[in-house]
Amino acid sequence: MKKHLVAPSVLAANFANLEADFAMVNNSEADWYHVDIMDGRFVPNISFGMDIVKTMKGLAEKPLDVHLMILEPEKYIERFRDAGAEVITVHYEACPHLHRTLQQIKATGAKAGVALNPHTDVSLLEGIIEDIDLVCLMSVNPGFGGQKFIYHTIPKIKKLKEIITIHNAPTLIEIDGGVGLQNAEKILQAGADVLVAGSSVFKAKNPTEAIAQLKGIGGQIFHV
Ligand code: DX5
Ligand code: ZN
Repeated sequence: MKKHLVAPSVLAANFANLEADFAMVNNSEADWYHVDIMDGRFVPNISFGMDIVKTMKGLAEKPLDVHLMILEPEKYIERFRDAGAEVITVHYEACPHLHRTLQQIKATGAKAGVALNPHTDVSLLEGIIEDIDLVCLMSVNPGFGGQKFIYHTIPKIKKLKEIITIHNAPTLIEIDGGVGLQNAEKILQAGADVLVAGSSVFKAKNPTEAIAQLKGIGGQIFHV
């Protein structure tokens, strides 16, 4: 039996002093680092590439959960794996050959994730759910940190949980965008396993405590 996971999103970290922010997360109750890669094409923003991920890997004592908000992610999967990604998540909307792309990720030894934009229905994953290690439901439109949680995500979590249960799949449900103490309990009760939190952690007065609070929420227990 295992509790939900908390993955601080480093997009909201201080890039002038990554060492300090990584030391904070290393010494906190957080489980993963969530690492957002944006290409300025799939999303209207550019973040950073694999060299920075490699630098982060050198500082991180916890797994890197790499979220690729990029077109043609299949071109870069091996390089992000080499840079240190443990989980590699591609967008459903950017993958015309999703099954092949998931096999490509798994062949590198990484866990394979699929992210869905707010408008994309979870039922589209029904035929492939057993091949997915993690589904990342976007609870904001991807591209920026600090946005407001879209409440329609809650019924999506419940529906996805049903699909996972029916298929007896090991898939984790991750929620990304606008997550904080104000909504985390509802999100967990709906069936989420992983909370991504950027602003609510790094902009908090006490980020270590913010992580501990997110981790401490009752939520659901899931079996692994
Ligand atoms: C949004 C990113 C998120 C973002 C979350 O495009 O995928 O991971 O960093 O940031 P907050 O928690 O501030 O909404
Ligand atoms: Zn993300």
